[in-house]
Amino acid sequence: MNLFVRKSITAIQSEAEESNKLKRYLSTFNLTILGIGAVIGAGIFVLTGTAAAMHAGPSLVISFTISALGCLFAGLCYAEFSSTIPVSGSAYTYGYATMGEFVAWIIGWDLILEYLFGASTVAVGWSGYVVSFLKDFGIHFPAQICDAPFAHNSEQGWYLTGSIINFPAVFVVVLMTTFLIVGIKESARFNNIVVLIKVVVILLFIGFGISHIDVSNWTPFIPENTSGRFGEFGLTGILTGASVVFFAYIGFDAVSTASQEAKNPQKSMPKAILYTLLVCTILYIAVTLVLTGVVNYTELNVAAPIAVAIDAAGQSLFWLRPIIKIGAIAGLSSVVLVLLYGQSRIFYIMSHDGLLWKSFSKTHPKFKTPYIATIIIGIVAVLMAGLFPIGMLGHMVSIGTLLAFIIVSFGIIILRKKEPCLHRSFRTPWVPVVPILAIVICLAQMLALPLDTWIRLFGWMAIGFVIYFTYGKSHSRLQNKSK
Ligand code: ALA
Repeated sequence: MNLFVRKSITAIQSEAEESNKLKRYLSTFNLTILGIGAVIGAGIFVLTGTAAAMHAGPSLVISFTISALGCLFAGLCYAEFSSTIPVSGSAYTYGYATMGEFVAWIIGWDLILEYLFGASTVAVGWSGYVVSFLKDFGIHFPAQICDAPFAHNSEQGWYLTGSIINFPAVFVVVLMTTFLIVGIKESARFNNIVVLIKVVVILLFIGFGISHIDVSNWTPFIPENTSGRFGEFGLTGILTGASVVFFAYIGFDAVSTASQEAKNPQKSMPKAILYTLLVCTILYIAVTLVLTGVVNYTELNVAAPIAVAIDAAGQSLFWLRPIIKIGAIAGLSSVVLVLLYGQSRIFYIMSHDGLLWKSFSKTHPKFKTPYIATIIIGIVAVLMAGLFPIGMLGHMVSIGTLLAFIIVSFGIIILRKKEPCLHRSFRTPWVPVVPILAIVICLAQMLALPLDTWIRLFGWMAIGFVIYFTYGKSHSRLQNKSK
């Protein structure tokens, strides 16, 4: 039994063509919108405020730029892989082709943190925005049905909150899961509308906010680290800020999970990944500049920082308040949609390879979607979002994604060595410099995350190893073929 048995790229390509039961519907435009749908969400609407207030102040702009560079370098590696191996397994399949089955399993298992945990985390953020939006109109949701029944803190450990379920979070997961079962076309249409709403709302904030900037709020641009603690302002604050706002970029790689539903994946994939990153980076940097220019960063330690900036701008912008909340609600719902989508496609491929149960790759006869995988993922996401204090899992989503980016970047170096003559529609420039830079920046962001998060990551991986050695290894199609 060879743990590092590799799948040949030609075999992956022909298998993907022959056994693809998914509909090829998505153009470069649809794919870019899919990427923006996954990316712009809780990161910019929720995390920017605390990251500025607690870590970096106005220099959060530099944090966003560092994080964007890490994503850009990793994105260039994803672009080459997705144009060469256009299969919905994304990083999991890239790992299979370059580093072998065991590493592929590690990435596949790790990606659950990004997609499934990510979708659940953002669903809880969605719930918070909906409850606060309805409150503005005098509709009060009883706390018992909009909060998790279980909570955790370092003093008490686990305890009961008295709530029954986070109903709005459950609702958004069920709704998005239904879209995904009914079809890629319907999901893409919904995503297009929602992305349009959130981008317009962000542009409104930037456009109207600019005239309310008080440049004195940008001084000092890099607040001094007076506590001496790592990550509280100064240069270490910028780095910690980057690892916090990294969450805001998560999802651009979801584009590559749509490879088998793209009309022309070789050409569209790299373009859509890079366009997504470009659009989101520009918007994030502009929002951060306006936000920290309108309000002093010390006042931004809140759940809805953009609303605080609007209040600070005065009466003339009050009309924007509900609109921003609508933008956030729309924005977060598409993140849930695309992350659940990505997870179902990765499970689809893993099951096809025999590493997960067969039913996960069953497609619906009419809708042509992997409906069983989608339903199971939906149920797990409902339980997580409805019952648990997902906030504490936000860091897990980031560390899991950073790990996947590192492995993919490393994979490009290996691919160039093992398959130098392979036809590539897109080539990552300056290999190995770009992948090495991606690895260094992503690793630095991982190191800036708390120790607890690292411990949980190892715990999660240990569970994954148990599943691989008790199920995946013996059911793997490749292992059984090579026996
Ligand atoms: N990037 C996504 C968000 O910020 C996960 O919500």
